[in-house]
Amino acid sequence: MRIIVEKNYEAMSKRAAEEIAKVVNNKPNCVLGLATGSTPEGLYKELISLNKEEKVDFSKVTSVNLDEYVGLSGEHPQSYRYFMNTNLFNHINIDKSRTFVPNGLVKDIEEECKRYDERINELGGIDIQLLGIGNNGHIGFNEPSEFLYMGTHLTGLAESTIEANSRFFDSMDEVPKKAITMGLGGIMKAKKILLIANGEKKAEIIAKLVEGKISTQIPASILQVHHDVTIIVDEAAASLIKK
Ligand code: GLP
Repeated sequence: MRIIVEKNYEAMSKRAAEEIAKVVNNKPNCVLGLATGSTPEGLYKELISLNKEEKVDFSKVTSVNLDEYVGLSGEHPQSYRYFMNTNLFNHINIDKSRTFVPNGLVKDIEEECKRYDERINELGGIDIQLLGIGNNGHIGFNEPSEFLYMGTHLTGLAESTIEANSRFFDSMDEVPKKAITMGLGGIMKAKKILLIANGEKKAEIIAKLVEGKISTQIPASILQVHHDVTIIVDEAAASLIKK
């Protein structure tokens, strides 16, 4: 794993945006695996600037997102589709019909999951997968558990995740308890992985990810066996790494 420590959130975001822009510039019709959460907001702002300055062109890019809440439509302000539209897609020259986010409203979730994986395969796989990390080590919505899943699947959210996500909703009742997420197999098949994290709150989990054992209780730890992972963190998130 390549670990890059940047001074602060802005520097982390800029550096991560450069990594993504490099992939797009080398392969204009690449497949970007994208993520939501507070962490990538700055990175997306950087990508918007790079696009406006004509330093990166998204016109031939396809994107696939990691996950979506079950029960929220794409118009719901807390849905991940809405997040992606408002934080990135509406502001860059990407063809929206080539941006994929799992559909959290479908009746047949199993079919949706199968179709999602088939689509990624048909696209030739993901060139670079962007990841944030949950405080409990989840990536996408692959929560700590006795077992991990290969493919896209329906999952219940951990109590700590529901609590962390409640900051975006008016009441606890409104926080979705289920999601569709790409599985760890899907994530690990990406040619490159870029994980970003910032702030003191992520320091403990980043140290475990980088220096701890591989465990299904820390789903992100499986990244240790991927051949091309870059982790970009700010100084606060790196503060508990020993070496
Ligand atoms: C959610 C998303 C993850 C994300 C995590 C961390 O659970 N499903 O993909 O990495 O939140 O979010 P944040 O970046 O807000 O800390």
